[in-house]
Parts: sequence; C-alpha cells; structure tokens
Amino acid sequence: MLKLENFDIKLNTDFIGRNFIYFEEIDSTNTYLLDKSNGIDISGTVVLAEFQNKGRGRLDRTWTSDTGQNLTFSILFVKNQTLFQNLNFLNFAAALAVASSIDNLYQLKTELKWPNDILISRKKTCGILVETITSKGIIERVVVGIGINVNQNYFKGEYNYPPTSIRIELGKEVERERLLAEVLNNFEHYINKLKSDKHQIINDWKMKCKMIGEKISIRQKDKVKFGIFDDIDENGFLLLKTKTGIEKITAGDLTIQ
Ligand code: BTN
Repeated sequence: MLKLENFDIKLNTDFIGRNFIYFEEIDSTNTYLLDKSNGIDISGTVVLAEFQNKGRGRLDRTWTSDTGQNLTFSILFVKNQTLFQNLNFLNFAAALAVASSIDNLYQLKTELKWPNDILISRKKTCGILVETITSKGIIERVVVGIGINVNQNYFKGEYNYPPTSIRIELGKEVERERLLAEVLNNFEHYINKLKSDKHQIINDWKMKCKMIGEKISIRQKDKVKFGIFDDIDENGFLLLKTKTGIEKITAGDLTIQ
C-alpha cells in the first residue's frame, strides 16, 4: 500500500497531484479520468491504482503490472489550450520527468525511445499513454497515463519490448512514494518550460535519446518501414532516412535493427 503521507511530504507542486485519488483496484486510471461522468474536473488531478484489471498501453495493447509493486497513475488536464496544442511536447515532458527522476534518485542511466518509452539497459521500465477526449473537434480533456516498473522483480508472459524495473537494475527495492513525488515535481517543471521555451524540451529529449543515427524499423498498422533514425523535428516527429529521402513519421513502434 502506498503511504500517502510519505508522498505528500515530498510533493512540491502548485497543481499537479494536489488533487489525488487512490484506488486499490480499477479498470484503468486513464479510462477513469477520461470519463467525464466521474465528475473529476480539476487540472492536475492524479489518479493512482495499486492494480489495474484493464490497464491499457499504446496501439491497443494491454499494460500489465503486479499489484502494489509499481506506479500506475494518470494525470488530468482540462481547459489548457497551450498544452492541448502541444500534445507531442506534453508527451516528451512526461518522459523527461520520469527519466530525470530515475537518474537523479538512483543514479541509473535512462535512455528515451521514441515516442515516449523510458529504457534502462535498453529494456523498458516505463511507458506513457497520452489520450484525449474531444467534443465537436475541440479537445476537452487530456490524460497522461504513466506506468513505471518500480519494484517488480520478475516479468512473466509475452512483452512487445523486453521489460525491466528499477529494482532489477539497481539491485534493491526503492520507495515508490518518493519516486512518485519526484516525477510529479519534475513534470510540473517541464510543463512550465513547455510554456516558456518548448523547443528546449525537444533538445533535452534528444540529448537523452541515444538511438539517433541508428538503423531502425518503424512498425505501423499494416507495414514496416526501415531506415536510419535521422532526427526529431521541431514538432517531435521522427525523421526517417530511407533510400528515397527523409520521411516524417508521426506514429508507430520503433525497433533497433
Ligand atoms: C505503453 O508503453 O504502451 C504505454 C503504457 C501506459 C500505461 C499506463 S499505466 C497508468 C495508465 N493507465 C492505463 O491504462 N495505462 C496508463
């Protein structure tokens, strides 16, 4: 069980996590916050669950996580056009917040994988799922869902990308409350940066992505594209160098070749 007082004392934000909702079990924290009928309308609200029985990942995958071992939570944003017009930057801000928290607290070397996975030793330790609700073409709510493998020691079953956890990489258990507060503190810092200097976010993200220049493939619904990871453009899209030139990739699953 998460010790909320240990989290609260380390939280140093103005709005993120100030409204905090805790579940022992839920279908998915993203699904909960996306559903307007739950009556949650405060920007920065964090919903955390010890277990999700229908946790969701990108590209319609499921996200599985052992009860009480990890961090599975979502953050709601409403009425914030600056953020809504910069969803790629919000994605990157979340990834940077998680990566810098893990680096600083545990002196581990994280690496970012486009679009928004956090790796340690080239294995996945965190995934991020940003989803929106629109009405008449206008974004009404944005939910940033974050799943961090923290203390899980063993991963069974099939994974799209090899998983790891902070505990496996560090060799000891870590305090989830402290990590959660650090991630939220850093996330608010990066969101403020997004408003003042959003291109710095792309630069920071690129500094932590060690795959630029490597041979990669991008799997999209029914096709796979091969090429060299050339760069990230000013909007956060991946530039793939192929035989025919540079192609802008807006979505897909990256694999190193
Ligand atoms: C991915 O890498 O595919 C994204 C995984 C996102 C998982 C988190 S866990 C909290 C939130 N609730 C969900 O159902 N998914 C996100």
